Amino acid sequence: MSLDTSPLFRPLRIKGKTLRNRIVMPPMAVCRGLNTPEAVEWYGRRARGGAALVVVEATSIARFGFDLTAANLRPLVSAIHDGGALAAIQLFPTVRARQATPEDLSLTEIDVLVQRYRMAAGICAAAGFDAIEPHGAHGYLLNQFFSPDTNRRTDAYGGTTDRRMRLATEIIEAIRPSCGASMFVMYRHTPVGRGYGIEESVALASRLINAGVEMLDLSPSSRNAPGDLAVPFSALGVPVVAVNELDVPERAVEAITLGRAHLVAVGRGLIADPDWPIKVQEGRFSEIIACTRCDGCHDDLRWNRPVTCRQWPAESA
Ligand SMILES: Cc1cc2nc3c(=O)[nH]c(=O)nc-3n(C[C@H](O)[C@H](O)[C@H](O)COP(=O)(O)O)c2cc1C
Repeated sequence: MSLDTSPLFRPLRIKGKTLRNRIVMPPMAVCRGLNTPEAVEWYGRRARGGAALVVVEATSIARFGFDLTAANLRPLVSAIHDGGALAAIQLFPTVRARQATPEDLSLTEIDVLVQRYRMAAGICAAAGFDAIEPHGAHGYLLNQFFSPDTNRRTDAYGGTTDRRMRLATEIIEAIRPSCGASMFVMYRHTPVGRGYGIEESVALASRLINAGVEMLDLSPSSRNAPGDLAVPFSALGVPVVAVNELDVPERAVEAITLGRAHLVAVGRGLIADPDWPIKVQEGRFSEIIACTRCDGCHDDLRWNRPVTCRQWPAESA
């Protein structure tokens, strides 16, 4: 196969940091813990495979300052850095032991949520992360607050678009000071969701950028063509990450060369083959262990067992 993959391997500068190429490992919960040797090896291995930015999986904000500290997260960050990638972490909104809905939460609980984000950001900065990403996508709590279908509040956090954006905006404003010059702020959002479309999502993105978001991670960002749902966001002035089945090299290149996104995230493709970036760069396409979309990795996650790929030889699973 002859494919010019060079557009994927142009570095990108952000906030004084260099992403060595345009390939991101998106957050993926892999059931290996975070401050464990297994997690350090998993994430370090994905960094050594050539991704430019490794986003550590959705991590509850309630854990920071308890079982997660700057000291015990540092080995994970170092392993990613030693592999040549920048390290980010996705911060998952948790305020009660069981998942809450927008209308369940009291104003005090909303304040607790925002303060937990602030605290988590400070610990991530001290641990050496290059970026943090509130999880605002996939129908979870922050996404529920944004969706008119799932946000039934009648106070300052529900109703108009403006009010439905408020919680996410307050979180970004709360974490900004901890990020300072050392970390950039990402935000994961689903461009088309329950009861809202691209137009409202662009309004949210603009608001969050004004509040301090420096990179948008849009998931999923393909419907008809690779990264097509990212297009309306890519002119907002911050780098945009597209994700969803972009592990086919032609699709990844298309998303970048047609300017639909600045970066592409490869998820299940990097579970199957951490060396995907290096192999693509070197044109070793036939050597890629390609994801077959069997979603065995999701099954592992559902059963809370270490995520593996059905294509790996038995001894490495
Ligand atoms: C095992 C597994 C765990 C995932 N965990 C998360 C997560 O923690 N946070 C998140 O935002 N998305 C998560 N995702 C979604 C991925 O980040 C990505 O958006 C999705 O897999 C589509 O990209 P792909 O087609 O390249 O796999 C997960 C996906 C998989 C397969």
